[in-house]
Amino acid sequence: MSSRFVVTGLAGQKKLRGTISVAGAKNAALKGLAASVLFDGPVQYHNLPAIEDVARMQELLRAVGAGTATVSGSMDPALAGKLRASVVLTGPLLARTGRVSFPLPGGDVIGDRPIDLFLSGYQAMGATVQESGGVYTVTAAQLKGAHITFPFISVTATEALMMAATLAKGTTVLTNAAMEPEVVHLAQWLCANGASIAGAGTPTITIVGGTLLQPVVPYTTPPDRIEAGSFILLAAMLGDDVTVANCNPSELGALFALLERAGVKLEVAGSSVRVRGGGPYTSVSARTHEYPGFATDLQALYAVFLTQCQGEATILETIFDGRFRYADELLRMGADITVMNPHKILVRGPRPLVARDLESPDIRAGLAYIFAAAAASGTSTIGNAYMVDRGYEHIEERLQALGLDIKREEV
Ligand code: EPU
Repeated sequence: MSSRFVVTGLAGQKKLRGTISVAGAKNAALKGLAASVLFDGPVQYHNLPAIEDVARMQELLRAVGAGTATVSGSMDPALAGKLRASVVLTGPLLARTGRVSFPLPGGDVIGDRPIDLFLSGYQAMGATVQESGGVYTVTAAQLKGAHITFPFISVTATEALMMAATLAKGTTVLTNAAMEPEVVHLAQWLCANGASIAGAGTPTITIVGGTLLQPVVPYTTPPDRIEAGSFILLAAMLGDDVTVANCNPSELGALFALLERAGVKLEVAGSSVRVRGGGPYTSVSARTHEYPGFATDLQALYAVFLTQCQGEATILETIFDGRFRYADELLRMGADITVMNPHKILVRGPRPLVARDLESPDIRAGLAYIFAAAAASGTSTIGNAYMVDRGYEHIEERLQALGLDIKREEV
């Protein structure tokens, strides 16, 4: 049985009002959970988001015996195949057990997502890698510290190697490391429990390896900056007066810079961002970039926002191939989008959108379809709700509270 969302649009009228609170960050929580393998004993977690990817990671961890004395390095291929973040678990499992086996990780269909940086990083730390029938086996009785320079930036490879290095012998230096807030949060929490990690949040991270960590300070998931940015875009497009509460506005600088140039009025107070309906807004071009640049996970939602702005603007996707698949569906809804090449689209606005029956291809595009349906006239359905549930908890209830006509239906 699967479910779908049914959304009756506001037909271009602004009327969402109220407060929406941001949940714990998916891409932080998944790594915090994977790190449990580095501990001598069970770890406590707070503010985990109630999303499907977290449930899958918990299943994976239970299956390898995390939190017990007999952790196994064999990851269940069927479980690991379901989420990209399973690859992040290979680092701590290898460091803890000396041998990890796993299939190519699954997850979103957003172009090729290779794992070469993980494998070459483990090899630099003294591990051997074998592949047979699509299953990788990485072995190292004792990982050794190494100097690893990433040829380009990868969030999960930075996190996996940082965690592996925590239990390695000697010092590891990661250069050209990801600077995402989730990396910093993970490093700070590991350090609070005995790890030695310096430089997280800069391009060079230095880790001095040691013994298993003691679970002293519980893990508290920080607010999800992608969810916060998504709700701010929705509020700018369709809100009268919406407050996005419980977020870290300091992590949203690049989005704010774009929105302010578009003419959106944002009032930041502590951990809240108040967005008052305004407009008309001017189209502003964006390019995705690693943090602190504009997040690739926001670009599908930004494209929907651009369909309602005046003028034309481009979005340049620099992180992933194949992340514009949503454009065809927005075209069917009446958007004026030209796919210039696999990395660039041109959006002309404003255009009235009309309801359509849609299927979520991935987490972020799924939410983008909900937002497009909310702007459109008529009633849309968004199938494959599981994709949205992977990343956003109880989305329909939270959007209903802002006045959106959205419900979930079993099909
Ligand atoms: N890449 C390689 N080889 C590797 C690793 C990455 O070529 O070994 C490439 C990727 O194919 C991509 C680029 O490097 O072109 C950057 O990918 P990165 O590894 O940074 O992405 P990721 O770690 O797989 C995480 C988030 C994504 C988010 C990206 C970029 C998690 C679990 N996922 O992915 O989140 O888009 O960083 O910020 O943390 C999402 O939440 O919907 C999502 C896709």
